[in-house]
Amino acid sequence: MKRLSLAAALALATIPIAGAQAQATYPDRQISMIVPFAAGGPTDIIARIVGEHMGKTLGQSIIVENVAGAGGTTGITRAAQSRPDGYTIMMGHMGTHGAAPALYPNIKYDPAKDFTPIGLAAGTPILIVTKKAFPAKTLKEFVDYVKANGTKVNEAHAGVGSVSHTSCTLLHSIIGTKTARVTYRGTGPALNDLVGGQVDYGCDQIVNLVSQINAGNITALAIATPERSPALPNVPTTKEAGLPDYQVSAWNAVFAPKTLPADVTAKLVGALDKALDDEGTRKRLLELGSVIPDKAGRSPAALQKLVESEVARWTPVLKAAMAAEQAAGEKK
Ligand code: MLT
Repeated sequence: MKRLSLAAALALATIPIAGAQAQATYPDRQISMIVPFAAGGPTDIIARIVGEHMGKTLGQSIIVENVAGAGGTTGITRAAQSRPDGYTIMMGHMGTHGAAPALYPNIKYDPAKDFTPIGLAAGTPILIVTKKAFPAKTLKEFVDYVKANGTKVNEAHAGVGSVSHTSCTLLHSIIGTKTARVTYRGTGPALNDLVGGQVDYGCDQIVNLVSQINAGNITALAIATPERSPALPNVPTTKEAGLPDYQVSAWNAVFAPKTLPADVTAKLVGALDKALDDEGTRKRLLELGSVIPDKAGRSPAALQKLVESEVARWTPVLKAAMAAEQAAGEKK
């Protein structure tokens, strides 16, 4: 066997020590949090609120980097392939880590295998909202209108596999409708067009909608959760509005690339936990209608289980909806 030179042997011996020192001093520079949608949307809002407090605990700023495209899978793919050193983390959600595998046969990541789960940041109930001038003013009128007008009605969503696209796909599969579907780089920009009246409706996360609903700039037809939201007490549930089968709530969660060192993971998990216990952070999240997970619901193990159950839940629903859409298209 070729003898290693003393220098090479020393160099090899120091690698683990250097790695251990780097982990021990983590973080010693700012951290990038990839948000896979445009700025101003629900995932961006939650990332900035939670990231601000996490940065205080970690002693380094968490800088949000918006990497939009392909229903969020572009940004998540980049984050999944980043160095597992704790300096690149991401805000994923029910779309990127639940629905996407069913809709992207060549997706470059497995939500259940290619990440280090850090923790759930916020549950985000879904609302059906319309532009102010939309003729239907109740959920029942909306269903009748969409059945009668079909693709003359425009839906705004954030790309195939996004929460908004997935949530409206479920709605269409329940009421048996098909409309025109307009893709945005996030539901932040989509909301601008909804307020401006350039698009008719959407299925979006509550944190994006509360201020525009309260300002009367868009109409909330119903919230798709069993109970009304304390942030929007006047918005009826889908059950009250006559569509009890339409139940959907999204979630946003912090992930890191897989094989993140345990002590780096622990620091990120602890910082997220502190953020969700912080009164100021909680107030900002709750005012926007977020559902803040309890201690058990925040753990990495709970997030791993959630990802696995969401992929299992959405895959058959979305594959059936796509098959039905294809069959309807072929009938024409
Ligand atoms: C966003 O932040 O734009 C949304 O999470 C996109 C989506 O609907 O998934």
